[in-house]
Amino acid sequence: MKKVLRAKMLLLVVTSVLLLLSACGSSGGQTATSDGGSAGDKEKLVIGFSQVGAESEWRTANTKSMQDAIKEAGHELKFSDAQQKQENQIKAIRSFIAQKVDAIVFSPVVETGFETVLKEAKDAGIPVFLADRAVDIEDDSLWVTFLGSDFVEEGRKAANWLVEETKDAEGDVNIVELQGTVGSAPAIDRKEGFEEVIADHPNLKIIKSQTGDFTRAKGKEVMEAFLKSDGENIDVLYAHNDDMAIGAIQAIEEYGLKPGEDIKIIGVDAVKGAFEAMAAGKMNVTVECNPLFGPQMVDLIEAHLAGEEIEKRVAVEESMYTMDQAEELLPTREY
Ligand code: AHR
Repeated sequence: MKKVLRAKMLLLVVTSVLLLLSACGSSGGQTATSDGGSAGDKEKLVIGFSQVGAESEWRTANTKSMQDAIKEAGHELKFSDAQQKQENQIKAIRSFIAQKVDAIVFSPVVETGFETVLKEAKDAGIPVFLADRAVDIEDDSLWVTFLGSDFVEEGRKAANWLVEETKDAEGDVNIVELQGTVGSAPAIDRKEGFEEVIADHPNLKIIKSQTGDFTRAKGKEVMEAFLKSDGENIDVLYAHNDDMAIGAIQAIEEYGLKPGEDIKIIGVDAVKGAFEAMAAGKMNVTVECNPLFGPQMVDLIEAHLAGEEIEKRVAVEESMYTMDQAEELLPTREY
């Protein structure tokens, strides 16, 4: 009889301990305390990050910002570089799902074609956070939030600078455009914003427009082709990022013209390389696109997993810099 009683008591103790342990454990990234509040020391999350690639100075700075922020917050990062290929991103997201990560951060190479894989993440109960670039998908329940820049506004800023710069110009102003990766949000939106503004200024004409895939090498190559066909007729280069502008500057110099003077150069990103080019008088303006949002992204993930309501769209604040500010600001640039 005593033996039965002892066994029952032991069972009771074991069950209580197990219940206590499961109450202290966490689910979905939330850290529960015995009083139901949230604990001072956070739970370590596993975050999968599918990055676009390493195509530009901007991208390198963005990757570092995300890596540092995740590490500093004490979480684990599973990183995948898609090398600018959508199929690599789809594979990476599937692998994150299989590894049952707590959250997926995803910077889509292009806007479309991710519906199926994002549904798979949703079915697996893994929240997806869009970083830097948006997707063009009707069902917005497939991601938690989009943290990134307003690319249309960046295009408008670039065009507004040009409108002011050329207000006294007589005759047509011939613009060549180096677009970003075909189908990517920044390429689509920066073009849209720029065209929206110049539509009211019929003398501002885009005479050539082609993708340079956001890289220096491609920017140089395409600019060489523009110069070959239109040479001295080109007044302005609008490049969807600074790396392509820097590649194009090289092409212009090799062609025998002065970038920044003979051809005005507009870039986007505000990377150090653009400041150096501006300080050397070879580039006129760069519209800021801030890649240093790693800490903000970690805060959003933690907030969501803690059950907080977060905005569907979180914008990164940005500015614009001209040639005359370059020398003074160059030492302060972080990317
Ligand atoms: O999506 C942001 C863009 O991607 C940056 O402007 C460009 O440099 C990068 O490659």
